[in-house]
Amino acid sequence: MPFSQLWEDTYSKGLQNSRWPWSQLVSFAHRLCDLGPGLRVLELGCGMGANVPFFLAKGSDYHAIDGSQTAIRSLHKEFPSLKKNIVLGDFSKNIPFGGQFDLVFDRAALTHNTLSDVRSCLKGALSALKPGGIYIGISWFSKNNSYAKRGKAHPQDSAAIVEFVEGPYKGIEPMRFFEENEIFSLFEGLKLIEIEEEIVRKKNPDETVLSAWNFAFRKAE
Ligand SMILES: C[S@@+](CC[C@H](N)C(=O)[O-])C[C@H]1O[C@@H](n2cnc3c(N)ncnc32)[C@H](O)[C@@H]1O
Repeated sequence: MPFSQLWEDTYSKGLQNSRWPWSQLVSFAHRLCDLGPGLRVLELGCGMGANVPFFLAKGSDYHAIDGSQTAIRSLHKEFPSLKKNIVLGDFSKNIPFGGQFDLVFDRAALTHNTLSDVRSCLKGALSALKPGGIYIGISWFSKNNSYAKRGKAHPQDSAAIVEFVEGPYKGIEPMRFFEENEIFSLFEGLKLIEIEEEIVRKKNPDETVLSAWNFAFRKAE
């Protein structure tokens, strides 16, 4: 049983099949990390592998975990040399790798969990980060996103939406919408490097604001 039947159903229908590296991630990683063969990297929620070719091109030692069997099977087929490094699992329960990482990141993955699962994931993920290592979070949905006020609230977390009636996020819930101060509190004890709220104003078919946080924190040496 996958951690989320919704993600599994989505990928098995060929939907959300993003296959290009996300530009904000590329930009943060280039600016903040010494990308190269020495860099041990962990992606939480790699999905269909949009960010894999970027790290492989840099020669980094890439690892990932995702809860969808379809996604993991497809990545093992595409990147057979990474079979041991890309694993199936629920990152809120366990980080299934030994040793520590120079960079841990997620792009729109933790934000598809309730706050208590985000907390328990970060407990494992931040202890897997080397002293001086960096966490990059890209596309954590913001409270200012138009969809934060649509759909139905999760019974245990009112900022997580579980049932949208329409729109780009229908069928891949939960989606959690964060306040800036919640992000600071989740990364308490780490040093902020940068945080931005990326606001996209869609003009059609309806006027919609798709806003999300991009940020980076460094663990103390
Ligand atoms: C929006 S997709 C992002 C995929 C990829 N990071 C990208 O940038 O294209 C979110 C991914 O996170 C995974 N995910 C979310 N919560 C998870 C959890 N608790 N454990 C494992 N995978 C999870 C989903 O299966 C999905 O593949």
